[in-house]
Amino acid sequence: MTIAVCPGSFDPITSGHVDVVKRARGMFDEVIVAVARNAHKNYFFSDEDRLSLAQGALADIDGVHVEFVDGLIADFAVRKNAAAIVKGLRGAADYDAEQAMSLLNRHLSGIETIFIMGDPALGHVASSFVKDIASHGGPIEDLVPRNVAIALKKKVETK
Ligand code: PNS
Repeated sequence: MTIAVCPGSFDPITSGHVDVVKRARGMFDEVIVAVARNAHKNYFFSDEDRLSLAQGALADIDGVHVEFVDGLIADFAVRKNAAAIVKGLRGAADYDAEQAMSLLNRHLSGIETIFIMGDPALGHVASSFVKDIASHGGPIEDLVPRNVAIALKKKVETK
């Protein structure tokens, strides 16, 4: 049984994330999506919302589970006996940030990070842009799972 941990902020989960998780599931028996905290980010959605939106978006995919991680991803991956950490890369900007993180995670846990190149059709989809479009009343239905589109609209309306 090979397990992969797929960590991220998921603020909120996008169609690009879902694509990467599905493709990771093609390589591992189980994928645990780890909704975590980046200490340098102020989140739009609460921890609970980021978790429940990711759970809703991935509910139909067999062998994929979502958990909230309040600590180091390296420790979590060791506890889960993960064979690898998997992250999606959209381009060079992602690579710069991910390179250091992957090497630090290996230093802390001995677990390698595997990168999956984001589908070019979804390459432009970033959580930050999606939130910006939603906050200006633009259409986001093609960029995020349905449950996320509903939550984003609701959140923007009540702000
Ligand atoms: O989607 P993001 O914001 O690029 O994800 C970054 C995240 C949340 C995966 C990263 O900040 C993280 O792993 N946070 C948990 C704490 C941790 O392990 N920090 C050390 C990273 S080397």
